Amino acid sequence: MILGAVFGAEGAELDELRALLPSMVKLGSILAVLPAVRRDLRGYGPGARFRRYREQYDAIIDRLIDRARADPALGDRDDVLAMLVQSRYDDGSPMSRGEIADQLLTLLAAGHETTATTLAWAVERLRRHPDVLSRLGTGDDDAWREATLIEVQRVRPVVEMTSRQVRCDELTIGRWTLPRRTVVTACIALLHDDPALFADPYAFDPARFVGARADTSAWIPFGGGIRRCIGASFATLEMNVVLRTVLRDFTIEPATDPSERSHSRGIAVAPAKGGLAVVHRR
Ligand code: HEM
Repeated sequence: MILGAVFGAEGAELDELRALLPSMVKLGSILAVLPAVRRDLRGYGPGARFRRYREQYDAIIDRLIDRARADPALGDRDDVLAMLVQSRYDDGSPMSRGEIADQLLTLLAAGHETTATTLAWAVERLRRHPDVLSRLGTGDDDAWREATLIEVQRVRPVVEMTSRQVRCDELTIGRWTLPRRTVVTACIALLHDDPALFADPYAFDPARFVGARADTSAWIPFGGGIRRCIGASFATLEMNVVLRTVLRDFTIEPATDPSERSHSRGIAVAPAKGGLAVVHRR
């Protein structure tokens, strides 16, 4: 889904991106939080491996950009690559290839792992809550399916924290006065576990959101404020379509084994055993 929406890729390029990007994003997510291992050791080590991935990626993006520029129907396309190729700065100049490649990679890295991991948690939680699974049935009940995804994101937010840096001379938050350059980190997971905001916070109970909107100052899996996730609506739509399709086409076997522990994959926090499930085609 993300390769189509972001890159507008089809055919050979789609296959190449599909083969390259999972390993590239996995390694990139680790290097993003461990700068010490980023060094290229004369062609060896994780830093060098990432550089080689990046070269392959840039070559594919170059071909996609060339194809987009030659596409007479470019104006009708709605993938992000097509929009960036057509976009212009205030002085009328286009974005460079490098800038376009960087923006696409940001959208992919921010958008794929997070959405896929949330869906993995949805499977993990549903298998351990057969009552919710049977209430969802074939997934036709929009209110219950949407509430389930909201509750999955409350109990298992895949991005655990988000930070801001104070840019003005001084900022007062509650009883704290913070000088310029202070980094403030909001722990998303802790807020979601606050009993003052959610009754019985550790219970997985989608009913709390059926027919009710989540309060976006208490439920913040997508962050908040001016830098709130730009892909939140797209991710919500994607997850809804995937969950509805899975429930329509398959029955999921409940699990009796313990809840999966959380495992950090660098950016997203995933079920340690991958949220695997036994399913049967309906
Ligand atoms: C379930 C899926 C997703 C989750 C949980 C998620 C979570 C987040 C979070 C927590 C932030 C930081 C917000 C803040 O600091 O206040 C963020 C930012 C961002 N996300 Fe997402 N995201 C998801 C899907 C997506 C998708 C599908 C895209 C793009 C296609 C995307 C693109 C971005 C971008 C570009 C930013 C940076 C926004 C900025 O700094 O202005 N995300 N996301």
